[in-house]
Amino acid sequence: MRIDILSAVPELLTSFLNHSILKRAQDNGTVGIFIHDLHDFADNKHRRIDDYPYGGASGMVMTIQPVEKAITKLQKERHYNEIIFPTPDAPLYKQKTANTLSTLENIIILCGHYKGIDQRIRDHFITMEISIGDYVLTGGELAAAIITDSIIRLLPGAISDETSALTDSFQDNLLSSPVYTRPAEYKGWKVPNVLLSGNHKDIDEWKMEKAIEKTQQIRPDLLKNDTTE
Ligand code: ADE
Repeated sequence: MRIDILSAVPELLTSFLNHSILKRAQDNGTVGIFIHDLHDFADNKHRRIDDYPYGGASGMVMTIQPVEKAITKLQKERHYNEIIFPTPDAPLYKQKTANTLSTLENIIILCGHYKGIDQRIRDHFITMEISIGDYVLTGGELAAAIITDSIIRLLPGAISDETSALTDSFQDNLLSSPVYTRPAEYKGWKVPNVLLSGNHKDIDEWKMEKAIEKTQQIRPDLLKNDTTE
């Protein structure tokens, strides 16, 4: 898979994407992540990529020209399955969308900044808009990082235990059950006996019971609706 990220502040992404699982996935060829500085595509000598909004609102708006130049350059090189714009005024991101995106070959993520991006970019280039939650961030970079992370951990080869992404919270509309490691007892706090029993049927039943219990307590909405949509 290949992910191209267009950003006004690429430094915000480089450190995050160059560590741990995301770094290993790039090093072993599971994914290629390419970060592009939108200022490099600006056709003006000050490399400006924003301007005042029509209608006199507050804040600056990202202009069409550098975005169009960046996207058309990439599109000449390969076909992109989706061009994604993270924005709070969009459908909420769910695990199911991450699953779908992880099956694609090439995607572009355009990070907005300032007050917003010219609506014509959304109308003419963007194929999918995603909100990562009902709150507003200063830019799209953190959202792009979250989307990228959630996709990459699903790619075969990214996580050493291949089944572990399948047992994540949300994969079956349930939050995940608690996990424990050694020691079996610490300051009198004990690991549940069933996990030490070696009986896999009992252990699986216990995990399912705990997952349902936790979901009922914290996110009962997951049990009622198909919120993975
Ligand atoms: N950009 C700013 N806030 C955002 C949000 N909540 N989701 C996605 N992109 C954003």
